[in-house]
Amino acid sequence: MIAAIAGARIGYDESGSGLPVVFLHGFPHDRTLWTAQRAALAAQARCLTPDLRGFGDSSTHGPFTMDQYADDVVALLDALGIPQAVICGLSMGGYVAFALWRRHPSRVRALVLCDTRAEADSLEARGRREAQIALVRAQGPSAIVEPMLTGMVGADTRAQRPEVLTGLRTMMGRQSAAGVIGALQALRDRPDSRPTLGTITVPVLVVVGDQDALTPIADARRIAEGLPPAARVRLEVIAGAGHVPCLERPSAMTHAIGDFLSTLSP
Ligand code: MLT
Repeated sequence: MIAAIAGARIGYDESGSGLPVVFLHGFPHDRTLWTAQRAALAAQARCLTPDLRGFGDSSTHGPFTMDQYADDVVALLDALGIPQAVICGLSMGGYVAFALWRRHPSRVRALVLCDTRAEADSLEARGRREAQIALVRAQGPSAIVEPMLTGMVGADTRAQRPEVLTGLRTMMGRQSAAGVIGALQALRDRPDSRPTLGTITVPVLVVVGDQDALTPIADARRIAEGLPPAARVRLEVIAGAGHVPCLERPSAMTHAIGDFLSTLSP
């Protein structure tokens, strides 16, 4: 489906009814990252999977910032008449979830922070973003796919489920140069979300794959430790998964999120 929001088009899918849950993908993914959870959790929630601006079927023009991605999600909620939703973001989707909490806290029923971190990019990481931007400008978006791909899944997935890598390669390879460059700039310039952690007053589930090399368990633990008691944080480690447990261990991921949702009133 496509929603026309202020000046942009947002692609999204929707399944189920009840408690609204918005699933935000990482970089350079699209909404199909969450297809298994959208389908499986439809029995228990109204599941929405938008494409962030620049990805999938959404508009490929900027501005590209975490704040803009967050505002786009809220514009989608407005268009669908949804006052409040659980925001579930993976990696870059988690950075968007932090921005959404900062800008629109009354719209957030609870947070699910998957394979993400609160810290901003280090100087070294910013340099890597610059190199990736230059590579995409010179050779197109597919140039960054192969170097990123192997590290995105865990060792178990690489050894036992090569089809997950194949699917991920296709998803990452179909994104536009404009969207990928815009997201790299947004990632590079995103703020430090550590000061945000202490302000969170809604329930939070932190999820991480035990083989995540990009945002390892230590990053998830630092998020959990930075949250105040009001966030009633739960930390779930998904065994045998890397950075994208929703694809690598879809049932375990669905189960972790479904359990958490069942603790929330509609
Ligand atoms: C993602 O999966 O969204 C990226 O790994 C985030 C990042 O590069 O910081």
